Order: sequence, then structure tokens, then C-alpha cells
Amino acid sequence: MTSTITTEDYQAFRLFLEEVSGIVLGDNKQYLVTSRLTKLMKEHDVHSFSALMGRIKTDSRLRNRIMDAMTTNETSWFRDVYPFDILKEKLLPELAKQRPRKVRIWSAACSTGQEPYSLSMMTQEYLQSKPGSLAADAVQIIGTDISPSVLAIAKEGVYEGVAVSRGLPQDRKSRFFRKVDKGWAVVDDIKKRVSFRELNLMQSYTLLGRFDIIYCRNVLIYFSTELKRDILARMARSLNPRGYLVLGGSESITNYSDDFDLIRWRNGVIYQLKS
Ligand SMILES: C[S@@+](CC[C@H](N)C(=O)[O-])C[C@H]1O[C@@H](n2cnc3c(N)ncnc32)[C@H](O)[C@@H]1O
Repeated sequence: MTSTITTEDYQAFRLFLEEVSGIVLGDNKQYLVTSRLTKLMKEHDVHSFSALMGRIKTDSRLRNRIMDAMTTNETSWFRDVYPFDILKEKLLPELAKQRPRKVRIWSAACSTGQEPYSLSMMTQEYLQSKPGSLAADAVQIIGTDISPSVLAIAKEGVYEGVAVSRGLPQDRKSRFFRKVDKGWAVVDDIKKRVSFRELNLMQSYTLLGRFDIIYCRNVLIYFSTELKRDILARMARSLNPRGYLVLGGSESITNYSDDFDLIRWRNGVIYQLKS
């Protein structure tokens, strides 16, 4: 078993990864590839990277495992706080006036579910503070991701250890989770407005329908300029008129899209589809 990767195999692997996921690896990320794939290769009895490149052409299970190993699934509850405060304090109050019967939110690249469930928790807090402003079942949240294994965790909605504690204040933990054998389960009132499905952001979004808000956070950074432009253009077409787009703290639309107005709120920015 060798854990070194030749320049040729590395180039072939980079191409494969970009083709299937859009993720662009830098010139010198051989160490990343070897450190993430060595254990998996052992498990699948693959003895070299060239053998691995051969196997992934026909073995879709192995391909999925490789995708899982190569994607960064890091997330946390109420990550960066701001995107969740703005939902409760600005976006839902505005949408409640415009379309009180149906508000659709898409958490694109939702990883293990913390983002869409945190959005549901904020919705719950909003509904409790402004009863009747939105129909009880008006808000629908859809979480999508390319990785079946993170989606399985998201759908189950049970978290333990660091996964339950990162970013989660004690009072929200006691209101929105219940203790179960395996850890902490998201309560049904929060779970019921969230659904999940597998979706590669390189593929069509039309089956998802239109949204009022899209959260696309901490995933565009991995893609090429061309793919960023393409994704933002298709997200613009997936929004209802004057719909909102929320990106990650280190991401922006500058150089990638002209479809949005910049909305400044408190110490941050989000985007709104131009009219
Ligand atoms: C760092 S996590 C971001 C999670 C969450 N949005 C947040 O900000 O906390 C990035 C996620 O993007 C997903 N991802 C990577 N490439 C993707 C693609 N082409 N289509 C859909 N999801 C993808 C990964 O599986 C991973 O779960």
C-alpha cells in the first residue's frame, strides 16, 4: 500500500473531483488527497492511486465515499449568528406582510442539517413573538447537499458531543431538543417544516421550485469562477421576485453576478434580486 501520489494521478484526481462536484483543488494539495483517502483505500483494498483512479470509473459506491472524504462538511448551529438574526428580525417580518401563507427557504449545501434546523428554530421564535403574522405552516425549509452521508444525519436530526454543542446556547438546546439514547434529537415542531434531498449544485434546480430566500453558505469558495457565476445565475432564476440570497461570511457576488442589489443591515450584507 502506497500513500504517495504521482503528479499524473494527482492531475487525474483533480479533474475527476472538479467534474463530479465542482470542487477545485489547488496545485499542491497532494497531501490533502493522500491524508483524506489513505484509510478509505485500505478499507476498499485499493493499493495505489492509479488503481483508485481505475476503480472509481465503475464503482459508484466508492465514488460516493471519495466525495464524502473530499468535501468539507464543517458546520455549526447558528453559524455566524447574523444570517439567523436577519431572518427573524428583517426577512420574516417583511415576507409576512407580502406572502403570509407561504414562505420557502432553501439551505443549499446544508451539510448535517444545523443550518436548516437553525433557520427553523428562528422561524419558531419569530412565530412565537408575532403570533398570527404568518400561517402556522407557512414556512417551508428545504436542505440539500451532494453528500448522502451528511444528509442521512440531517434527516435523522440526532446529534451528540461536539455536534450538538457547537454554537448552540443552553436555552435553545432545552427548548428545541430532547434527550434520546443516541444524543439529542431536534423536536418535531422544528423538524416538521424542514425536508432534505440530495442535490449537486452543478445540476438543475428547477424541480425544487421557487424560493423567497436562498442560503448558500460556505460552499461557493470551493468552486471555480465559472461555476460560481453559473450557480449564482441559476439561483437568481430560482428566486421569487425580490427574493433574498444569503452567502457565507467570506463570500460575495462581486465579479460573479449582476442580478442582485446589496442590502446592508446592521454590520453585514445580504443580497436581493433586482426588480
Ligand atoms: C462547509 S459545508 C457548509 C455547510 C453550511 N452551509 C454552513 O455554512 O455551515 C459545505 C457543504 O457543501 C457540500 N457540497 C460540496 N460540493 C457540493 C456540490 N457540488 N453540490 C452540493 N453540495 C456540495 C458538502 O457536502 C458540504 O456539506
